Amino acid sequence: MEYPFSRFMRKKPNIKLAVFEKRKIDHIQLALDPQNQAQHHSGLEHIQLLHNALPEINFDAISLTTKTLNKTIKTPFLVSSMTAGHIRANKINQRLAKACELRGWAMGVGSQRRELIAPQEKASWASLRRLAPHILLFGNIGLSQLIRSKTTDIQRLVDALEADAMIIHCNPLQECLQPEGTPFFKGGIAAIKKLCKTLSVPVIVKETGCGFSANTLRQLNELPIAAVDISGLGGTHWGRIEGARSPHQHTLAKSAKTFHDWGISTVDAMHAAIEVKPHYEIWASGGIRSGLDAAKLIAMGAVLVGYAKPLLAAALKGLNELLALMDTYEYELKIALFCTGNTTIKRFKESHVWRLKTM
Ligand SMILES: Cc1cc2nc3c(=O)[nH]c(=O)nc-3n(C[C@H](O)[C@H](O)[C@H](O)COP(=O)(O)O)c2cc1C
Repeated sequence: MEYPFSRFMRKKPNIKLAVFEKRKIDHIQLALDPQNQAQHHSGLEHIQLLHNALPEINFDAISLTTKTLNKTIKTPFLVSSMTAGHIRANKINQRLAKACELRGWAMGVGSQRRELIAPQEKASWASLRRLAPHILLFGNIGLSQLIRSKTTDIQRLVDALEADAMIIHCNPLQECLQPEGTPFFKGGIAAIKKLCKTLSVPVIVKETGCGFSANTLRQLNELPIAAVDISGLGGTHWGRIEGARSPHQHTLAKSAKTFHDWGISTVDAMHAAIEVKPHYEIWASGGIRSGLDAAKLIAMGAVLVGYAKPLLAAALKGLNELLALMDTYEYELKIALFCTGNTTIKRFKESHVWRLKTM
């Protein structure tokens, strides 16, 4: 049988750079389309933080300082891995990196896949790091590329960016629905294990908006990874985005409609993590659209919380718009701490201020 994605698939090891670039630009435009957001599926509306009418603290005493990967950073916020590998990507990433340096946020770059086939990309990563010398900066590559790469090539990506950790993204649904997709994940667990043994920096595993089940989190618990970003259903949906890239009547477009709400919600994936109690840090993303959303996930145990699409939209407008949005998210998180009577993230977590809403 010829699979629907196979007519676009590479016959030789190199994919065409022009096709690659076009896809990455399409992704940005399509991610901004509300139709490609799985809104109202994150489950966050069912989580409530318990209001404290007598907080006995002053607002200016609140600190968002957070410990992650054995480092202390100013906030528990992360710019989730987004774009790379095309002409507009550098500008967007530079703006995101500048804002992160100013606000002390961590940042993941988008897939560095292009550098595997175009080593000249290396220079752009070095200049990005120069813009943000103090932040936690994470490299990124897809699991299906990792399986087919040498660990020395992945180390090269880390070195180019001076990355503090390497993120491996798992995106099985996207690979099935992408016209150029590579849905080849056999050997994925062994590849992550091997990478952990040889890479000079910690390895992090993330989804891209379809979440992790308790069983998968348990499998990952056997590996010496440093963190998992659960990236659940509730925001950017890669099934929808890839479906929109195929002609209307094409099998991929029709299948994408069938799978338009596929995934484990961010809150369900967080519950799964609570059940598993993994040795690694839990990070959360997928449909986080305010500082209050982030607060709920932090209260449930997330160490870092990531935003993708909203920050992309702000970054496309300008640095000031981006900084203003980041400030709003920080302020909202502080309100959540204040109104639950906590001055630190640590105490906020320990005080168990969340519950499932009853009505
Ligand atoms: C334009 C765009 C490109 C993305 N590219 C990547 C990527 O290269 N690697 C990755 O791990 N995740 C990628 N993601 C997924 C995000 O990191 C995140 O997991 C997902 O979008 C859910 O967050 P959101 O609902 O806040 O957008 C991308 C997201 C967007 C919006």
